[in-house]
Amino acid sequence: MGLNLTLSNVLKRYNGKAALDHCAVSFSQGAIHVLMGPNGSGKSTLLRVCALLEPIDDGEIVFRSGERVLAPDLALRRRISLVLPRVGVFNETVYRNAAYGLTVRGIAKNVIAAKVDESLYAVGLASKKNDNALTLSSGETQRLGIARALAIEPEILFLDEPTASIDEDNTRMVEDIIKGLHRAGKTTVILTTHDRDQALRMADHVVMMKRGRIVEK
Ligand SMILES: Nc1ncnc2c1ncn2[C@@H]1O[C@H](COP(=O)(O)OP(=O)(O)OP(=O)(O)O)[C@@H](O)[C@H]1O
Ligand SMILES: [Mg+2]
Repeated sequence: MGLNLTLSNVLKRYNGKAALDHCAVSFSQGAIHVLMGPNGSGKSTLLRVCALLEPIDDGEIVFRSGERVLAPDLALRRRISLVLPRVGVFNETVYRNAAYGLTVRGIAKNVIAAKVDESLYAVGLASKKNDNALTLSSGETQRLGIARALAIEPEILFLDEPTASIDEDNTRMVEDIIKGLHRAGKTTVILTTHDRDQALRMADHVVMMKRGRIVEK
């Protein structure tokens, strides 16, 4: 069915200083939402709190499936995924890295194999599946991070600057992967970027942030 995400009055402080200041925004299911704003404006913080990786100090973050409000529990966490700007990989094969999210969920090996093969294929890394992940280029590493997230078939995929340090070809590949998810209609995408042209190419909905506040939506 997909998930809708609504933030109201969200406040997040670090050392007494507000990184998120009364943020209110809705992320509707199935759309590509793009967060923009200067360095330090709170974009990554917003993604982390939305991905339920950090608690907030005030306000509400509400996930709904249809009309039903979902509890922020492990079951919900397993339906969402965050890819960081610099994907961390471990000294193992590309396959094992991509399988990580499924392995920790205790899923059967043959199911994992099918999903991982599919997600590596989707990001153009099928031929590298037996290579050590540490040998990948930065663009390939970024795509591996996306494959790892895709393998768990998240209903909301958060991407923090997915193309920040990669070349034009890899950027287009990543954009095409994201647009493919959008066309399939099952995944809501919430991403950050400093690239206005990318926002124009990708966004159904642009959210601007400034000093911890949402200034436009
Ligand atoms: N773990 C933390 N501890 C202390 N301060 C933090 C922490 N995380 C974020 N901040 C502060 O919160 C503010 C918002 O940071 P955030 O990383 O969310 O910005 P951003 O919009 O993602 O910036 P950038 O475009 O540079 O990635 C900054 O002032 C930052 O220093
Ligand atoms: Mg950031």
